[in-house]
Amino acid sequence: MLQFYKPNSDARLDPDEDYGTPAVPANGDMPVSLVSLTIDGHQVSVPAGTSIMRAAAILNIKVPRLCATDSLQAFGSCRLCLVEIEGRKGFPASCTALVEEGQVVRTQTDPVAKLRRNVMELYISDHPLDCLTCPANGDCELQDTAGEVGLREVRYGFEGANHLDAEKDESHAYFSFDPSKCIVCSRCVRACEEIQGTYALTIDGRGFGSKVVASQNEKFSESECVACGACVQACPTSTLMENSVIEQGIPEHSVVTTCAYCGVGCAFKVELKGDQVIRMVPYKGGKANNGHSCVKGRFAFAYATHKDRVTTPMIRNSIEEPWKQVSWDEAVGFAASRIREIQKQYGRNSVGGITSSRCTNEETYLVQKLVRAAFGNNNVDTCARVCHSPTGYGLKTTLGESAGTQTFESVDKADVIMVIGANPTDAYPVFASRMKQRLRQGARLIIVDPRRIDLVKSPHVVSDFHLNLLPGTNVALLNAMAHVIVSEGREAKDFISERCEKAAFERWKEFVLEQRNSPAAMAAVTGVAAKELVAAARLFADAENAAIYYGLGVTEHSQGSSAVMAIANLAMLTGNLGREGVGVNPLRGQNNVQGSCDMGSFPHEFPGYRHVSIDSVRESFEKHWGVQLDNEPGLRIPNMFDAAIAGHFKGLYCQGEDIAQSDPNTQHVEKALRELECLIVQDIFLNETAKFAHVFLPGASFLEKDGTFTNAERRISRVRKVMAPLGGKADWEGTMALSNALGYEMNYQHPSEIMDEIASLTPTFKGVSYDLLDEKGSVQWPCNDEAPDGTPIMHVDQFVRGKGFFAVTEYVATDEKVNKRFPLLLTTGRILSQYNVGAQTRRTANMHWHEEDVLEIHPHDAEDRGISDGDQVQVSSRAGETVLHATLTDRVQPGVLYTTFHHPESGANVITTDNSDWATNCPEYKVTAVQVGKASAVSEWQSKRAIFSEQQVAHLKQSDS
Ligand code: SF4
Ligand code: SF4
Ligand code: SF4
Ligand code: FES
Repeated sequence: MLQFYKPNSDARLDPDEDYGTPAVPANGDMPVSLVSLTIDGHQVSVPAGTSIMRAAAILNIKVPRLCATDSLQAFGSCRLCLVEIEGRKGFPASCTALVEEGQVVRTQTDPVAKLRRNVMELYISDHPLDCLTCPANGDCELQDTAGEVGLREVRYGFEGANHLDAEKDESHAYFSFDPSKCIVCSRCVRACEEIQGTYALTIDGRGFGSKVVASQNEKFSESECVACGACVQACPTSTLMENSVIEQGIPEHSVVTTCAYCGVGCAFKVELKGDQVIRMVPYKGGKANNGHSCVKGRFAFAYATHKDRVTTPMIRNSIEEPWKQVSWDEAVGFAASRIREIQKQYGRNSVGGITSSRCTNEETYLVQKLVRAAFGNNNVDTCARVCHSPTGYGLKTTLGESAGTQTFESVDKADVIMVIGANPTDAYPVFASRMKQRLRQGARLIIVDPRRIDLVKSPHVVSDFHLNLLPGTNVALLNAMAHVIVSEGREAKDFISERCEKAAFERWKEFVLEQRNSPAAMAAVTGVAAKELVAAARLFADAENAAIYYGLGVTEHSQGSSAVMAIANLAMLTGNLGREGVGVNPLRGQNNVQGSCDMGSFPHEFPGYRHVSIDSVRESFEKHWGVQLDNEPGLRIPNMFDAAIAGHFKGLYCQGEDIAQSDPNTQHVEKALRELECLIVQDIFLNETAKFAHVFLPGASFLEKDGTFTNAERRISRVRKVMAPLGGKADWEGTMALSNALGYEMNYQHPSEIMDEIASLTPTFKGVSYDLLDEKGSVQWPCNDEAPDGTPIMHVDQFVRGKGFFAVTEYVATDEKVNKRFPLLLTTGRILSQYNVGAQTRRTANMHWHEEDVLEIHPHDAEDRGISDGDQVQVSSRAGETVLHATLTDRVQPGVLYTTFHHPESGANVITTDNSDWATNCPEYKVTAVQVGKASAVSEWQSKRAIFSEQQVAHLKQSDS
């Protein structure tokens, strides 16, 4: 069938097809210059720069190939894709030959068929003939291509030199490398370079001796490989193959869904046999990941069926008692009567709920609906309180909408990239790979971080500036950058006068020009030399397109909201908003943190960020929900803890969050949880919080339910059920059961009905439906009558609030000061292989890379304290103590320490304090004054926790008997 390329349509056409070479990149809305040619008698028009192979594939003509695939640039090494071109001598490789106007190409002639068979014969003469027992049998491009070229005999024997005895490398946790099957097409090497940007693989040797090696000819497990899986995906043979496929065979069907780990929101094909997941394959049609993945989404899914899953509802009267397994009806009945008794005794506001950024939009929506409509108050909050609540406040205040402004794709057009307080290669790996592609093309890079993150220097990427400021001084640094830009007249004057509030700008300008905001004055505060800062500010201001990417290193501070506003100020000041290649981009943490905020998880806002005190908004929900709603904001999470300790707050419904591990000042949190008379936890494991619970409702993993997640680009993507919930109910069904037991009726048959309700009540979601998502794959909100296909870039012609608002961002030093007793500053972060509190990744082979949280300390600080690498050390703060192993590294500067918080027993949050952002109460995880010394035993908290944890596990075991 004749197919014509549609200019400016989705260049991927059918994401399940491999077109052999990549599409010519679109240039925004610029018209595409088309070239027309004839292939095997069919005419086709494609953009100039397209390969003949791709043009043929668009016509459904498959040219045999081995070294080409459309996720990699053409390489031209295998010589299987030869074609004939009228008027041209020889047989050009169709993967590297580009289309020309009027060309007449023939892909199937006797001479090319013979050449292909000869080439294939050579490949097969050095390849094991074990197709029937090969793990890739039925899913092997070499096998398929041998069939396509009509190979019938191999004239060369196997007696000569060959690679058939090459040794296997089975050291990797997730895949195997069998070089006897390798055809040295170098797709793996190119995938590691072009897509992932890690450069862990090379082709070593020449000619017959050439072979694929990892790092310096090391085992995969010991190499620089970060287990993204791109090489495995690219391999056309079974040389690189998932262990799960080797062990369990080729999957038989697949379902497209969305990763449940980080906020990139990668699309995957879950490949199964029956309801057994065999592998997760990154989906080329996923607009957030374009077929790429990281180790978590690609390989770390075994937790979903781990033996630790708790799949039966349980109740108990006190946390000193063993659990009793009960039916769902009994569990929700018990929970509902407890909640009602508490409200009768302590008042309507004595109970609340916490929604989860790991659950779907529909599920978070239902939890906040339950709190507002069934509990009758606004005591609902979410884990975004402890990560990106300042983003909500800061961006709403300055730009008018609480969300990032761009698509991930936008980074392809950035000329200068500023990464502040974020570690994309560990926490946002698939986006980091895309960013590195742009950096390798020549974009300039400014890193603002107290620690030397990988992006500062990685293969073929070197930052222009690493401003390694002291923790807690982001606002000072951002103000100083703005000071340079304004004082040197480098601001975008036209943009500011057309698009921003004049009076606010003038007020801010006067403030920022004050001498105390100059780089010289601020150097003493930030520790960053004025000269460096001035040069970085000039680079940023003078860029055609400059984009800012920031993370929790900006928000989790006492001035988190001020820093977000200072970032927005900088973007407005330089005119870097409202088009591709620019923008303010929060790299949000968990998979659905954007969605949980959008869905009204905050105590002061309904879905769509509308204040509970706005009568018209409240009335629309009252009408739909059939109840009267409170017009007063409810309690935030830290207020709930304080109120529990004070005796006013007694009941909490916590879905899919582990506040006992993730929230700061653990001892304070534990005290609050012990005060509760009814803690209902809905989770897949008996997590740290569930150990304090009275009701346990089994949660469902992302594989067990339908719904949607919204990623950091505001992209809403479908989550699709591939197996029945192990605990009998998806999380939305559990919430519905609890609500019905409380007497507030909910009766949804499918999450699509919940989305329909969200759309009917939320203007930015008005056009969203499951039908639309199924048709488009995903859509970025706002999606409504004005933007029926969604909104990739925000604030294009004007800001959502009308004129942009320059907020004065006075630098105020944190109360968390170093002194003689606590002379060092501890900051925390994440690592690639583990995810958040680690409940999922600790139950996978990812433990191979990060078995415990360690303390990074500069050798000078270590030497002062007699600490050697690997020593057990006690870290003490004003909040508490914990004991970890030390790693000596100059990644951190003297005076600064760093650790992760993925393991409950390491207790990183025992040390972090109650200090929080002035506007949103987001905790100041990133700055804690501490002292460090050698330790011979674990801390008192760690011993107590171990005993308590053992008791609780014993209580769980007794529930089985
Ligand atoms: S391992 Fe696979 S992708 Fe890499 S060169 Fe060998 S056959 Fe090609
Ligand atoms: S898994 Fe990823 S990082 Fe490791 S070698 Fe393959 S492409 Fe490179
Ligand atoms: S980058 Fe994030 S969303 Fe993508 S696979 Fe990794 S964890 Fe999942
Ligand atoms: S596919 Fe063209 S040379 Fe290999």
